[in-house]
Amino acid sequence: MIAVANQKGGVGKTSTAVNLASALAAGEQRVLVVDIDPQGNASTALGVDHHGGAASIYDVLLRGTPLAQVLVASPNQDGLWCAPATIDLSGAEVELVNEPKREYRLHEAIGDLRRHLRRLGEPPLDYVIVDCPPSLGLLTLNALVGAKEVLIPIQCEYYALEGLSQLLRTIGLVRDSLNSELAVSAILLTMYDARTNLAHDVVREVKQHFPTEVMRTTIPRSVRIAEAPGFGQTVIAYDPNSTGALAYREAALELAERTGGDRG
Ligand SMILES: Nc1ncnc2c1ncn2[C@@H]1O[C@H](COP(=O)(O)OP(=O)(O)OP(=O)(O)O)[C@@H](O)[C@H]1O
Ligand SMILES: [Mg+2]
Repeated sequence: MIAVANQKGGVGKTSTAVNLASALAAGEQRVLVVDIDPQGNASTALGVDHHGGAASIYDVLLRGTPLAQVLVASPNQDGLWCAPATIDLSGAEVELVNEPKREYRLHEAIGDLRRHLRRLGEPPLDYVIVDCPPSLGLLTLNALVGAKEVLIPIQCEYYALEGLSQLLRTIGLVRDSLNSELAVSAILLTMYDARTNLAHDVVREVKQHFPTEVMRTTIPRSVRIAEAPGFGQTVIAYDPNSTGALAYREAALELAERTGGDRG
């Protein structure tokens, strides 16, 4: 389970979550995207209905509904499922505050889902990818507590590293107290524009600070990536040969290498 997290808004979390998931599913992996952002952008990109009132991750986190009951297969791609987020989730941060085991809700729901699939004799999920909201509240905390890895997208812009130390501190706190297995598996540079000096500077700086975490693959700025959600599609489905789709496929391969060997 990989949490795609960065409390900075608009850095490419959702694009990364859905396009990596789609690329992994295209490579015969069974992938679940859990949308825990009330904006529901990942659900939109996967072509999954998330109007208010639809069965969603809100029901799982707040009402104890089994995850299996809210999953929807993405029409984009075989082997790809989504647990959608609706606008109901916007109240969840507050509603969860007084609930028992509030940080463990997602972790437990995913454990139950894995056991459920095993009982049915279904093949296990290879990847669960969680698209986090742009905050470090209880929703993101649920993702960090359930995950084995965190993937941090960083936009190649000014202030790219701002807030990163706070994110890393939060990850460290979660590791110390709630989930000792948690690791930062990768940092992915997004919206890279090779024509600007700024992009080169950001890449250099991030690599200097995080030589092992930064992925070889960078995601270029690509209109196709931005257009695809408007058609309820990932860029992998929308324009499979675009530079954006190729970059996310390459990033998926790299991620599989990094996380390979102990999936299941
Ligand atoms: N590589 C890219 N090239 C061009 N546009 C991109 C790229 N990646 C993302 N975008 C666009 O940038 C915007 C922000 O991206 P995205 O929604 O993936 O970020 P986010 O971190 O999930 O945002 P939020 O914090 O609001 O959840 C979107 O409009 C998206 O379509
Ligand atoms: Mg998002």
